Amino acid sequence: MADNMDKDRVVIFDTTLRDGEQSPGCSMNLEEKLRIAEALAAMGVDVIEAGFPIASEGDFEAVNEIAKSVKGPAICGLSRATKGDIDRAAEALKPAERKRIHTFISTSPLHMKFKLQMDPEDVHQAVIDSVSHARSHTDDVEWSPEDGSRTEHDFLCRCVESAIDAGAGTINIPDTVGYAVPDEFGALIDMLMNRVPNIDKAIISVHCHNDLGLAVANSLAAVKAGARQVECTINGIGERAGNASMEEIVMALRTRADVMPYTTNIVTEHIMKASRLLSSITGFQVQPNKAIVGANAFAHESGIHQDGVLKNAATYEIMTPESVGLTKSNIVLGKHSGRHAFKEKARDLGYDLGDNALQSAFKRFKDLADLKKEVFDEDIIALIDDQGSGVEEALSLVSLEVNCGTVHTPPKAAMTMRILGDEKSCDATGDGPVDAAFNCIKTLFPHNARLQLYQVHAVTEGTDAQAEVSVRLEEDGRTVNGMAADTDTLVASCRAYIMALNKLLVKRQKTAPEALSA
Ligand code: KIV
Ligand code: ZN
Repeated sequence: MADNMDKDRVVIFDTTLRDGEQSPGCSMNLEEKLRIAEALAAMGVDVIEAGFPIASEGDFEAVNEIAKSVKGPAICGLSRATKGDIDRAAEALKPAERKRIHTFISTSPLHMKFKLQMDPEDVHQAVIDSVSHARSHTDDVEWSPEDGSRTEHDFLCRCVESAIDAGAGTINIPDTVGYAVPDEFGALIDMLMNRVPNIDKAIISVHCHNDLGLAVANSLAAVKAGARQVECTINGIGERAGNASMEEIVMALRTRADVMPYTTNIVTEHIMKASRLLSSITGFQVQPNKAIVGANAFAHESGIHQDGVLKNAATYEIMTPESVGLTKSNIVLGKHSGRHAFKEKARDLGYDLGDNALQSAFKRFKDLADLKKEVFDEDIIALIDDQGSGVEEALSLVSLEVNCGTVHTPPKAAMTMRILGDEKSCDATGDGPVDAAFNCIKTLFPHNARLQLYQVHAVTEGTDAQAEVSVRLEEDGRTVNGMAADTDTLVASCRAYIMALNKLLVKRQKTAPEALSA
């Protein structure tokens, strides 16, 4: 970060693509990670932790591609305290305009004894060696004492001092297991600010997990005590109960600048778009009452509240919906709307579509407008998010017909799919219509992937609403998500399933070239 940075500016370090991706079932493919990284850059995030390059080929490739193409933020790769890890991170980050290596080692008695099986002197030496080695690749090095909040203070101070002496410009204190409480965590940062002699040569960062629901409160307490970088994720995704949620931190700082006079570089109007993009890619829907980005965060149900808001929104709204990117008008285009109006609307919603993407989204909008009387903002967002990759997929749905109801025969589906250019048809029965349709897919394209998640979300109110369906499949430890939206829930379900299968084929192909056979 710039040396002349305002002393009250908080650096936003986003780890959605690293810690966030460690959430079970949350893995993303390269194209999805690139879309998230572009959204983070457009939002004004300072540092993107793009992955853990030594962890897998996929992580390496993602960090490398993001380093090549995403401009603006510093791109960061995680590494343990070994030469091999650090060199791999450096190689992945090579193309970045601004690169950061983040190296970590556990420092708590529990982790050193049972996880590392190292004594404190060796851990201390590893801190010096790893930071020095990382500095041979880049000037921007971050060091973290894993399980920092449960580390003995004397040892923590000693490691922090040595990491700074070895060249770390950012010292990140993780509450790895989400154990700290705000006063205590703030006091820990205060203790480091007062006791580490060279602390003024580094920025203190915090990385809080949400096991007790305190990640945001702990992060803010740390900022008040002097931390000037916060590590966080969109929608608070991350290991176990997740990480501190970026939108909550940023909006708390913005809304309560009276008691927390710190600024960030985040364009808060991008928050909703980033949140929705992440949900649609991962299939992790945000709970309705989630702060800032939940569907109910700006909804007023009680008559007294509605009356108050109509007279003056500030009666019950502490921030405006527009400030997080919610647009005012909800009813939008209809079947007579033209391409220009559609393009403008998409832009208002935060999507700058290129010619091909616009053409395809506009055609699908027209089809939708023929089916639905009113097309809402949410419909357009679902439709744009469900664009697919734009390349011809190995598998696609050609047609589907389903019979079900109170009749005493099992629900039955008849389906035609295109499989590597050939059309194949079959019919199948099942316990319900979705089961019957999925059985058709399994008959036409036999596979062993297990269905881990099947989730339907109505995009808007009303029986003509589009269904947004998420499907997660798992095969040999590889997890993929598919998402599709349609006014027909069964069509959306099958397209989401087939999208997940297409992704699985790509993943299989990377390990075995003959993978296109089932
Ligand atoms: O939670 C944690 O301690 C981490 C470190 C790698 C920073 O994610
Ligand atoms: Zn973490």
